[in-house]
Amino acid sequence: MHVLLIGSGGREHALAWAMAASPLLTKLTCAPGNGGIQEFAGCGALDPADHGQIIAFCREKRVDFVVIGPEAPLVAGLADDLGKAGIKHFGPSAAAAKLEGSKGFTKDLCAEFGIPTGPYGRFRDRASAQAYLTKQPVPIVVKADGLAAGKGVVVAMTRPEAEAAVDACFAGAFGSAGAEVVIEAFLDGEEVSFFALCDGKNVLPLATAQDHKRVGDGDTGPNTGGMGAYSPAPVVTPGMHDRIMAEIIRPTVAGMAKRGTPFRGVLFAGLMITQTGPQLIEYNVRFGDPETQVLMLRLKSDLLTALLATADGGLGAFDLRWHDDPALTVVMAAKGYPGTYAKGTEIRGLDAAANIAGVQIFHAGTTRDGDRILANGGRVLNVTARGRTVREAQTRAYQAIDHIDWPEGFCRRDIGWRAIEREGMK
Ligand code: AMP
Ligand code: GLY
Repeated sequence: MHVLLIGSGGREHALAWAMAASPLLTKLTCAPGNGGIQEFAGCGALDPADHGQIIAFCREKRVDFVVIGPEAPLVAGLADDLGKAGIKHFGPSAAAAKLEGSKGFTKDLCAEFGIPTGPYGRFRDRASAQAYLTKQPVPIVVKADGLAAGKGVVVAMTRPEAEAAVDACFAGAFGSAGAEVVIEAFLDGEEVSFFALCDGKNVLPLATAQDHKRVGDGDTGPNTGGMGAYSPAPVVTPGMHDRIMAEIIRPTVAGMAKRGTPFRGVLFAGLMITQTGPQLIEYNVRFGDPETQVLMLRLKSDLLTALLATADGGLGAFDLRWHDDPALTVVMAAKGYPGTYAKGTEIRGLDAAANIAGVQIFHAGTTRDGDRILANGGRVLNVTARGRTVREAQTRAYQAIDHIDWPEGFCRRDIGWRAIEREGMK
């Protein structure tokens, strides 16, 4: 089968790497792809926003299955257009992708179906948002309603900070994504990423992971897309897993079906594990980045078969096997990220780094120039490893990083600290 994978990040490299091992795969094309994916798959200069171009490519190249990586094309209705053209695909419709595309939509769904999440308000004008704020305790969280590439959220520790965030949204800091603002209660606890495949009706939980959002060691500095992750997340005990499925994931999937907009794809719940139980922070309608990199290193079963079963409504009798060993990934980013950074700097030593036992390097933002690998983004490499413990996986990942010669890059040196601390207490 010829598979077209849409996207260009470390998530897509990990998905491509996993699908490349499938006995069902005869050809893999990634669009636009990156310097790492190019080593084993064709990369095409397609524009994910140009649905007509993608459909024409699928027809001409006899693509059997399209896997959509990022959220923007899903919210823009790429899955709907592929469906109308009769092309099998993995990823939700635009109506179901609203779970990520509108934070207010998701909060209202939670209210309707009794899904635990913080109290909130939705606002379309500055005055009523500011009036609501005066009645709320701090810390408080201010969010642009729409897609803002991870930048539309301010966790305000003080009231002036919250007021400034509201003003920035309505002043157009996030364009149309900020035309509506959601203000919600601050949730205190440990954050986890929970993934489940959904075929519209049946739900198959995947592994859990924990991300590191802040740019600096010790969880300091500005928020990023994610500087590293590990799987599984020890805070999700079997009992907590059951509660997350029963209180959050299943009611969401049932609610979406009941509304006539069934969710088909991967549901990624950002959760806060609080004193009283799991609470939903947000939904994403795609795989996490960098969480997918650790999930794929732990997945034993065939990914492509699972994605096809999701598209075909066949998850009812489906199961997946996982390596018990944990996996950990460290993001190497260009100096300056998440602010401004240089592109085009050369990265050396990748072969020696990849030779460390248990290590797999995924490219997140690179291009290839002959034999040279050049940085082409903020998050550039995901150095990923499996080990018997999180500590061993971490040691392997940093050993590999120490072989990488890239003076213009940096990484956090403490990825996995929370799990390693727990291991130390055993
Ligand atoms: P998001 O872009 O929605 O993933 O939000 C970015 C980060 O802000 C999340 O990963 C959380 O760490 C934090 N955050 C968002 N909403 C809340 C909340 N209600 N309470 C506490 N932290 C939050
Ligand atoms: N790592 C968080 C995300 O993919 O949104």
